[in-house]
Amino acid sequence: MSFRVKNNVKWVGKVDWELNKFHGDEYSTHRGSTYNSYLIEEEKTVLIDTVWAPFAKEFVENLKKEIDLNKIDYIIANHAEIDHSGALPELMQEIPDRPIICTQNGVNSLKGHYHQDWNFHPVKTGDQLELGNGRKLIFIEAPMLHWPDSMFEYLTGDDILFSNDAFGQHYASEFMFNDLVDQSQLYEECIKYYANILTPFSKLVIKKIQQFLELNLPLGMICTSHGVIWRENPQQIVHKYLEWADAYQENQISIIYDTMWGSTRLMAEKIAQGMGAVDPEVNVKLFNISSRDKNDIITEIFRSKAIVAGSPTINQGILTGMAAILEEIRGLGFRAKKFAAFGSYGWSGESPGIIDGQLEKAGFKRVLEPLRIIWKPTEEGQKECLAYGMRFAESIKNQGSKINVL
Ligand code: FEO
Repeated sequence: MSFRVKNNVKWVGKVDWELNKFHGDEYSTHRGSTYNSYLIEEEKTVLIDTVWAPFAKEFVENLKKEIDLNKIDYIIANHAEIDHSGALPELMQEIPDRPIICTQNGVNSLKGHYHQDWNFHPVKTGDQLELGNGRKLIFIEAPMLHWPDSMFEYLTGDDILFSNDAFGQHYASEFMFNDLVDQSQLYEECIKYYANILTPFSKLVIKKIQQFLELNLPLGMICTSHGVIWRENPQQIVHKYLEWADAYQENQISIIYDTMWGSTRLMAEKIAQGMGAVDPEVNVKLFNISSRDKNDIITEIFRSKAIVAGSPTINQGILTGMAAILEEIRGLGFRAKKFAAFGSYGWSGESPGIIDGQLEKAGFKRVLEPLRIIWKPTEEGQKECLAYGMRFAESIKNQGSKINVL
């Protein structure tokens, strides 16, 4: 499969309908993904990025049907992660001397992955590559969006920003343009991608977008390296990124919990009931972390103004599912979110205190001291949970008014 993106720019990547996990087992891809590679054929011919390693042979064979590989003048490697650079070894066997344009960090990480001394040409922000026919590529380094080596480039004449991972989504589709796909599915995948991958780099996202906007380049299209191409109103995803990067929150509280025999779940349900009683506007959602996808829960936390996290106590600690998601939360560095912790116990009862300490360390702001209830909550215990939920919701009422993802 290949298709024309615009004028002399073609997509020559791979749609991966089967992918259900990415980054090892770290990121769920319910709708598959795509690895987008682009071929620009002006007086100079340029290939931008490749595909994930398992598709390397297929990619090179398909590329040969599009073009005599010897006609490729430059290869651009915007990012060394294997989903984009994975077919380079296969390709470089065919055209071993071809210049590879990347950042200096790209040289380091490509050498680190492949241990090859390819013909690297490092570029910096503002460097340009003349393609002929009145077109040139302008390079823009984008360190930590999301690796040190990440880079974008802008194609003059066609007004296309090649943004690599930024503005992308893990979303397989035969309709590779944003205006052709289901908008709610598209934005579900966009926000999930942002929440799970780009959250830690939000300040850099804002800076990089501002830097790009200051260049005053017309933005006709954004060609990302995953998912659909933004051809209709590409500014929409840029604005959405600015919103998401700015400590995003909706009027939502997520209660995340794990439970062994239902006592902590009962606490969660009563806390939720209390929240709804004092604030009918707030969107309270409950997630049992053992039965829900962790990346989807992270996306819900991203959308929330606050979370309440609960685990029973086991072996003087917390359940391992809760431990795992707390580690994920720590690493993502969410900003401006509030929290409380709870859990049932039988004898020692450390879990709410452990969760409380970890969320505080993760930068969340405590609303209430932890709540713990011995054994299964009695009528009295349930009333305590209800009151806890009421106090929690009351104290953050009317915060987080953004409610629409689209
Ligand atoms: Fe799509 Fe950072 O790789």
